[in-house]
Amino acid sequence: MLNGDELPKVDSQPGPRTKELLEKKARFVARGIPILAPIFIESARGAAIRDVDGNVYLDFYSGIGVANAGHCPQEVVAQIRAQAERLLHSCFMVAGYEPYVKLAEKLVEITPGEGLKKAMFVNSGAEAVENAVKIARAYTGKPGVIAFEAGFHGRTLLTMTLTSKVKPYKHQFGPFAPEVYKVPSAYCYRCVFGASYPGCGLACLEHFERFFVTETDPSNVAAMVIEPVQGEGGFIVPPKEFLPGLQEICARHGIVFVVDEVQTGFARTGRMFASEHYGVTPDLLTLAKGIASGMPLSAVVGKAEIMDAPTPSRIGGTYGGNPVACAAALATIDALEQQQLSSRAERIGSRLTGLLETLQERYPQLGDVRSLGAMVAVELVKDPKSKAPAKEAAAALIGECFKRGLLVMGAGIFSNVVRLLPPLVATETQLERAAEILTESVQAVFAE
Ligand SMILES: Cc1ncc(COP(=O)(O)O)c(C=O)c1O
Repeated sequence: MLNGDELPKVDSQPGPRTKELLEKKARFVARGIPILAPIFIESARGAAIRDVDGNVYLDFYSGIGVANAGHCPQEVVAQIRAQAERLLHSCFMVAGYEPYVKLAEKLVEITPGEGLKKAMFVNSGAEAVENAVKIARAYTGKPGVIAFEAGFHGRTLLTMTLTSKVKPYKHQFGPFAPEVYKVPSAYCYRCVFGASYPGCGLACLEHFERFFVTETDPSNVAAMVIEPVQGEGGFIVPPKEFLPGLQEICARHGIVFVVDEVQTGFARTGRMFASEHYGVTPDLLTLAKGIASGMPLSAVVGKAEIMDAPTPSRIGGTYGGNPVACAAALATIDALEQQQLSSRAERIGSRLTGLLETLQERYPQLGDVRSLGAMVAVELVKDPKSKAPAKEAAAALIGECFKRGLLVMGAGIFSNVVRLLPPLVATETQLERAAEILTESVQAVFAE
């Protein structure tokens, strides 16, 4: 058993067991399902992962932002076990059970917004976004949905349509869902208006005046769906005025303001929810990933009046809010609160951001360093003037980290971003070892 505080130790890559499993995978698993870091995990704890050949890795992707409270947190595992003994499944919509209601109560308590709120549960981030749109349409009686360039909301028909990266997510998967309208996001490093913040006067907000004339009338729009920090898009952190500006536009036009915190939620950004950084109160909030330490669970939480728009049985599903997943979520939220992991996210984020900014002085190919709490990314470019995306360098940096035992992931509409999403329980020693590996890896990729 791992303790969780292990440091990386890489002996053979790929080792013999891994080779065997990779061969089997190639034979039996559809090739559309890749394994980006070619390892097979034997066990994981905290921020440490051990593979089937005994190599130990530091996990700085957290199962894509899921293991915020660490891998297999013991109190979460204990609650999963206890709940599994009592009840594995019922379908809440037929016969209820307490963990569902307790979790709804907890989420209503900890999410932004003072007024009456309600929650409902489904299984994945995409399903939460789908349901938020259904609820917004039922509430407004309107069809349109506004989404943002560089956004990612999932892989179902509607959420793929809301998503803004053709390859690999949309290519050959059309036709797409109707009544989805895209607008530019506040991607300041690559502003589509060619402007710079703050002199731009928030051209991306101004753009709505034109958009509502050229694309659709606001009276046609049910919902606006926005990630507070665009995740897959490359950890795009907007200026502080952007989200409040969007909320104001939504309020003015009776559009439901849906904030997708699937990746940013649950202490990741240094607050329980990233919306808190911007002082916005979403009408509806979509949550998943960090909610339950890896048990499949997602939620829509929001204003009771909006959440109650669909009449009974118009939303839901067989597995949504499974009792074991709800028990895991309650224990996970408890762990995040008890261990003050939001503060820890701030510390981890500032250490990694500081490191990358120092490296940037020496290596200008680290074009843009962006972060909010422990959501940290660097966008790689061929040179800082042209900002030509350096996709190959990003892949090389991920590969160099991997060789040294640090697992990190790519992101970005041009696939030229390396993102760091460490478990918030990573120890100081692990954080420092990760910093060393990142430094060595950047040096290896950009060696003069
Ligand atoms: C912001 C956001 N929304 C939705 C999703 C989709 O979640 P899932 O993969 O659980 O369907 C993701 C996944 O990365 C995400 O980052």
